[in-house]
Amino acid sequence: MADGSPTFSPWTPARRTKPLGLLPFLWVSWRDPLGMWSERHFKEPQLHGNSALGEILVVSHPEGVRHVLSTNAANYEKGALQRRVLGPMLAEGLLLTEGDTWRRVRRILAPLFTPARTATMNDRMADCSRARVDSWQLDHGAKVLNLDTEMSGLTFDILSATLFSDQLDGDAKGFEDALNSYLSLAARIDPLDVLAVPDWIPRLGRITGAGAGRFFETRVSALVSQRRAQIEQGDPVAQDLLTALLTARDEEGGEGLSDREVAANVLTFILAGHETTARTLGWTLHLISRTPDIAERLAAEAQAFDVADPGWAEHLPWTRAVLEEAMRLFPPAPTLARRALGPDVVGGQAIAAGATVLISPWVLHRHELLWDAPDAFRPERFLPENRKAVDRFAYIPFSAGPRVCIGAAFAMQEAMIALATILKSASVEAISPIEPRPVHQITLRSRVPIRLRLRARAS
Ligand code: HEM
Repeated sequence: MADGSPTFSPWTPARRTKPLGLLPFLWVSWRDPLGMWSERHFKEPQLHGNSALGEILVVSHPEGVRHVLSTNAANYEKGALQRRVLGPMLAEGLLLTEGDTWRRVRRILAPLFTPARTATMNDRMADCSRARVDSWQLDHGAKVLNLDTEMSGLTFDILSATLFSDQLDGDAKGFEDALNSYLSLAARIDPLDVLAVPDWIPRLGRITGAGAGRFFETRVSALVSQRRAQIEQGDPVAQDLLTALLTARDEEGGEGLSDREVAANVLTFILAGHETTARTLGWTLHLISRTPDIAERLAAEAQAFDVADPGWAEHLPWTRAVLEEAMRLFPPAPTLARRALGPDVVGGQAIAAGATVLISPWVLHRHELLWDAPDAFRPERFLPENRKAVDRFAYIPFSAGPRVCIGAAFAMQEAMIALATILKSASVEAISPIEPRPVHQITLRSRVPIRLRLRARAS
């Protein structure tokens, strides 16, 4: 790149050279769907065929992505497979609802996630980040930390503080254990789901992960009823997202959300908002632990970082660029699946109603036709002077179109504040030449925990 920084390319899984038969396909979908992608997926704009899922079109060119996610989004829904995998816990949340139900909830929630509204949460994000760094006690000596656990803990603290005024707190470890169990057991692509076997036939992962689901539901339902009662009794209540959810009214009908809808959306925010941002921070720290020159640029920005300065975000161009590049290489949501409601033509290919369209940020972000040195970590691509050259529909960590992530501004702000706060106090070093390896378990996680050495910066 223009800057001439040395290049680092993180470990990346081997790409298949041959198509998968049915049984290997089912095994790979369950174990790690990253293994489904072949060399051709990274070289060709789109691939059409039939598999155990029926007709499938994999779209990896910006025009096609725009068409499916934005221009003709009305012709697509998320599809039964996604609802089956995520459904039991999130069925009535914004992520999985469709049609008028989704439109109504999105209308009610949108004002709560504007950049101006999220900016009011800066201080609490910075306080949580500082408290987490303090808990490491680096002034007593360098420490090797499990950054997956630490970042999950931090993003949980931030969510709890900013959206629920810490009333979810008190059992952060319990939440994390439940989340890990849910993501590794319940929320996998079960072969029975792929084959559309009826739901009454039990799925092993869902039975073993059911305890985690119950843990979330019980805690969150209790919180919702408690807050509803306070509001109805006219007691003073925290002005946070939970109160906003319980009191919001639809401008088009005047009705609010039911307690079940509120609970489903709280769970959606926990699962969609906490895990994704934690993984972004974990992969980012891994990448900078391997690129000391880039780490130093970030440290220099972090030294001058002060969340009380209204222009703080503009003073962190490298921090933002590194986070964006980390989400290019390790997109927290690696695949978006859609089902065509009616026939369509995408990139010249006719597809029938019911066809599955897969848009994979994992593939798109490393596609050979779209990126220069696609597997290399080059944050310069996202510096302000280069950012405009990145096609809006070639880079979609938060998706695009009407179903774009509602928490995107929240997540970017949170990740920048957290990263700058950590690097203001600590330097980050790799402890092993063996790199963490990504695995797709709803989000893009590391197969073994990301462990790094953190050392206090001389002040
Ligand atoms: C780095 C962090 C994050 C990433 C990469 C991310 C990514 C995404 C993506 C790709 C989607 C679209 C999924 C699809 O179309 O199938 C999505 C939707 C969503 N995200 Fe995020 N997200 C992040 C953080 C957050 C946060 C912090 C929140 C809330 C506090 C959140 C809440 C949601 C919700 C509610 C939806 C569903 C929106 C709708 O369908 O209308 N996300 N996110």
